[in-house]
Amino acid sequence: MKILHIVGARPQFIKLAPLCCAIKDYSASTSAAQDPPIQSIIVHTGQHYDYLMSKVFFDDLQIPEPAYNLEVGSDRHGRQTGLMMDRIEEVLIKENPDMVIVYGDTNSTLAGALSATKLHLPIAHIEAGLRSYNRRMPEEINRVLTDHISSLLLCPTKTAVLNLQKEGFSTILKKGNLLDASEKIPLPHPSPSHDQRPIVANVGDIMYESVLFSLQNALKTSRILKSLNLQTNKNEFIPYILCTIHRQENTDDQQKLQSILEALNEIADQEQPVIFPAHPRIKKLLGALDNSSLNNIRIINPVPYYDMLLLQNQAKIILTDSGGVQKEAFFLKRPCITLRDETEWIETVTAGMNIVTGADKTKILKAYHTMLKDKPQAKKPDKSLGHPFGTADSSTLILKLILKK
Ligand code: UD1
Ligand code: UDP
Repeated sequence: MKILHIVGARPQFIKLAPLCCAIKDYSASTSAAQDPPIQSIIVHTGQHYDYLMSKVFFDDLQIPEPAYNLEVGSDRHGRQTGLMMDRIEEVLIKENPDMVIVYGDTNSTLAGALSATKLHLPIAHIEAGLRSYNRRMPEEINRVLTDHISSLLLCPTKTAVLNLQKEGFSTILKKGNLLDASEKIPLPHPSPSHDQRPIVANVGDIMYESVLFSLQNALKTSRILKSLNLQTNKNEFIPYILCTIHRQENTDDQQKLQSILEALNEIADQEQPVIFPAHPRIKKLLGALDNSSLNNIRIINPVPYYDMLLLQNQAKIILTDSGGVQKEAFFLKRPCITLRDETEWIETVTAGMNIVTGADKTKILKAYHTMLKDKPQAKKPDKSLGHPFGTADSSTLILKLILKK
């Protein structure tokens, strides 16, 4: 079986890594007589291209070298997506895979899915069913469209499955047990690439697997805390706050950005700096500000994954507009403030570990004090539901579904 992964942005490399491991394990254990061999091809669109946004993840997480790098680079949404489609289509025609796998909600996701569906190739969407219900977010458009042209919708949470149900998807697969709900939901949802109807499955969150697997490596190998003087030679830790911002809604709105920076400045002091690994999108903007508006905010380059895990693991609190970082804060049991007006990861809020404030300075400061006063601990998961993000075996479940096992 030939599967072709389409990735292009930092969080997609992190989601790809566990699946590559599962494929490697499968190939090592497979008996030619019983199991079909898998040929796995990685296509990198080139959406992210700086070393610290791309190659470092392939190196550290031992992801195989992409067979194709389409070197699309940065551009306006339409031109970037269009160029990706042009180049992806050529690869798909040449490779004619049995299944195309797309990840998350970036322009690379949508370009991959649209190119595949026009060629009638089945698509598996990892992280299907997420919704912010904010159609001004480019990611919301990307994920809604991708879901509706996918054959295999691989949801990370129960909420994501329910979101798809609301949109008329009727076949639900829960952890290997096919539950055909078509009689209860009279809305057959034809799959565009297939004769069969699409399959919706809750496979848990692949980033949860990634964090559990990588944290030990991070603790062993990362020197980031020492190099930022956050850990003394006597192994004492200096308290710090971690922040990341890269969403268009924050970076492209000067007032919002100003309001967030003012809140950070109030929180930060010499004994308690804000550590801010800056995505290139915001690094340029912050670089143009005069130092007095950054005070004790330490802007650093984007960091490799293991360093980021360690920075999150030891942070007093995390402020972010990233989807992945919100989840990782939860997995690592760190309190989080989400600098957006809504979140797709409502489980983190329900558990009391995340407060959604948007960019409003007063709300951010209030959330900060509430979180630290209450010292949140993730509520014990309801045993009947299990961990909201699954059992850290998503890659195996995904592979089984792809192989129809
Ligand atoms: C993209 C995704 C977003 C995801 C994020 C992960 C879309 C619409 N957005 O946002 O959902 O959360 O990736 O990080 O797909 N740049 C560089 N070097 C790079 C990459 C980008 O300098 O290697 C700069 C360029 O100035 C570029 C800007 O960052 O214009 C934005 O990059 P882009 O890929 O368009 O979107 P992201 O903000 O990274
Ligand atoms: N990340 C990283 N280095 C950084 C910032 C983030 O390795 O400097 C990781 C982070 O741990 C998470 C992922 O990148 O796994 C999140 O990506 P990002 O915030 O760029 O995108 P989003 O998740 O919002 O789509």
